[in-house]
Amino acid sequence: MLITNIKGLVGLHPKDKLVLRGGELDHLPVLENAWILIEDGLIKDFGEMKRFPSTIAHLPSYNAEGRYVFPSWCDSHTHIVFAASREEEFSMKIQGKTYEEIAAAGGGILNSANKLQKATEDELFESAAVRLKQMILQGTGAVEIKSGYGLTTESEIKMLRVISRLKAHFPIPIKATFLAAHAFPAEFKNDHQGYINLIIDKMLPRIAEENLADYIDAFCEKGFFSVEETDQILKAGAKYGLKPKIHANQLSVSGAIEVAVKNKAISVDHLEESNPETIETLRNADTIVTLLPSCSFYLSIPFADAKSFIKADLPVALATDYNPGSTPSGNMNFVVSLGCIKMKMFPEQAINAATLNGAAAMELSDNYGSIAVGKKANLFITKPMPSIAYLPYSFGESQVDTVILNGEIYHG
Ligand code: NIG
Ligand code: FE
Repeated sequence: MLITNIKGLVGLHPKDKLVLRGGELDHLPVLENAWILIEDGLIKDFGEMKRFPSTIAHLPSYNAEGRYVFPSWCDSHTHIVFAASREEEFSMKIQGKTYEEIAAAGGGILNSANKLQKATEDELFESAAVRLKQMILQGTGAVEIKSGYGLTTESEIKMLRVISRLKAHFPIPIKATFLAAHAFPAEFKNDHQGYINLIIDKMLPRIAEENLADYIDAFCEKGFFSVEETDQILKAGAKYGLKPKIHANQLSVSGAIEVAVKNKAISVDHLEESNPETIETLRNADTIVTLLPSCSFYLSIPFADAKSFIKADLPVALATDYNPGSTPSGNMNFVVSLGCIKMKMFPEQAINAATLNGAAAMELSDNYGSIAVGKKANLFITKPMPSIAYLPYSFGESQVDTVILNGEIYHG
């Protein structure tokens, strides 16, 4: 496949650039008036139209005049396997109830778990596949998906099997994260250690045996999993080679960052709440800071302090958090807009955070997240746009026109 007359080829980081820290996020390399050649699903070559090689002039080509070509969005934090939406909580939120109050009233994660336990694997697969297809059509070309609405051994495994089926069915890389430590089931309300033992002794060995997960996660938060409980679970996961990606500081500064860094987490996600100590802890770590602005938008909680994290030289990524309770949307274009509008990231920073750093937060940045020779051709061609900044500026719209995965147009 050959694309010619591209207004701008975006995100040309060198192939060996695996993550962007702090000020590196400011720079989004773009080649204007460009062509790109794709062969066997990989980026084979690219250059300027004024040096268009005559040797490829005979190939059929897609004329992208007025349009940009971006590397696909890399959405490193989602919960898209769920049995039912939760609009009843939407109404409670409009009445002024907080996320914690809704959870305490029988809503929240336990509500989703009840419904998921009753759903079949086929039903869960079908509904997740509809969501994933929609996300891909909005430009996402790599994704992480978590369990965590099962909360029993069988249902957590059911969710992870659905994720395995999605991996086999879709032409994008998918990483699976085991999140049994999402909430304490009602029967373990007063026996936290009992549930943690179930995770460690029963769930983890089965998941490892069936090779169902790449990462381990915990919702380390007041009212959910304490720092000590999180530490136990992360250490148990490490025995099976599962690296942590954890829910940290969503509702309060909880000590989650410290326990994550101590356990060599790939990423800490959320950080709507932070303080100078949080930033100091992260400064000397390789852990990626994944921010989820559409969760802040939907829950009306503070937006994460992206500017301070970038100033402190941290590697910031952006992701959706798509789930039925706190972010019923998987639109990365909107996330990039919110990154700019609400977190005051520059378009270049937000786009880098949603592509290369998102890939890094899934350990995929050697093959995804930027346009470089030898990388996978997961890209999108925009509608005609006046500038790159127009993409986040035109919030609520998708400027994605044509999606290319492994060098082929994806029609859904
Ligand atoms: O990332 N914080 C924990 N998990 C999800 C919300 C889950 C839910 O409410 O169903 C989140 O926001
Ligand atoms: Fe989440």
